[in-house]
Amino acid sequence: MHNKLEELIEKAKAAVAQVGDLKVLEELEIEYLGRKSEFSQFMKSLGALPPEDRRTFGQRANEAKKTIEGIFMEARAAFAARAAAAVAETEWIDVTVPGERPPEGHLHLTSQAIREITGIFAGMGFTRVRHPEVEWDWFAFESLNMPGDHPARDEWETFFMDASPDAKLGKMVLTPHTTSGDVREIQKGRLPVRMINISKTYRRQIDVSHVPMFHQFEGLLIDKGIAVTNLKGVLDRFAQEFFGPDRRTRLRPFHFRFTEPSFEIDVSCGVCGGTGIVASGAKCRLCKEGWLELGGAGMLHPNVLKAGGLDPDEWSALAFGWGVERTMMMKSGVRLDDIRELYRNDFRFLRQF
Ligand code: PHE
Repeated sequence: MHNKLEELIEKAKAAVAQVGDLKVLEELEIEYLGRKSEFSQFMKSLGALPPEDRRTFGQRANEAKKTIEGIFMEARAAFAARAAAAVAETEWIDVTVPGERPPEGHLHLTSQAIREITGIFAGMGFTRVRHPEVEWDWFAFESLNMPGDHPARDEWETFFMDASPDAKLGKMVLTPHTTSGDVREIQKGRLPVRMINISKTYRRQIDVSHVPMFHQFEGLLIDKGIAVTNLKGVLDRFAQEFFGPDRRTRLRPFHFRFTEPSFEIDVSCGVCGGTGIVASGAKCRLCKEGWLELGGAGMLHPNVLKAGGLDPDEWSALAFGWGVERTMMMKSGVRLDDIRELYRNDFRFLRQF
């Protein structure tokens, strides 16, 4: 009988050693220790022994049972450990691997230019403001020393709104220039003024150098004793920061109704260095004579100061303004010969900047 138990233990050991998966192991456990197992049969057979033998063999049988149970328990633990190791092997995540980036956009070329322009003027103490893009005639023209029937208005090729006119302020327009913010700024009543007003502007024109919706920036500086030299200083600083340290500006006499004196501002050409002649001795193809036209400027007309409620004997002001897109297209590196490309929303174009 003793041998029988030893034999069972050895058999269980050998069988368990062959098992490849947990399910088979469980079946085997039932086979060896279940109610119908050889072991159970053996236990039952003990009932036929005389009492003292029964006790001795019963004890031995219980020990053998524990041994066999131990064999299965160990095997089960080994399976569990192996399964956990397999999961660790196949399902690990390296949390340090960089994620997949979603495609990232960037600011439109015009927005980039607006930020740059804002930053340059901020460095000179100008504060960016916004004024309405849908504006009354009075702010866009009348307050700027342009009476209702004045022919100069035609130059602005204005879009008129289909809205009922105001008795005092006139018709509504899509503002054709950022100068329409000048009197609004004065009316805020905070002096002195150092404003940079950048907004959309609208004119009825479209060709390689014009789009009906574009952007302008308007500088307005109001203080006591402001002179043309201040204007020149501000413009030179802008040209050097925006276009490059070797660039200069030139003021050319011009006429605007809202400034007196008025100027057109030119910036020295970046290709020929302002000489009009390139290294080979040929005429510069970009500027032809050394200068590129930027935009308009001048000392604010006394009538405009008055329209805003200021005494022109006490306050003086310089103003300048022109197109953001045009300025940006003149910057070296931006090789753009058709302004309309900016607003076609063609990613192949936009992605390049
Ligand atoms: N508003 C003018 C234009 O659109 C430019 C300008 C601004 C001229 C300020 C003088 C002073 O052409």
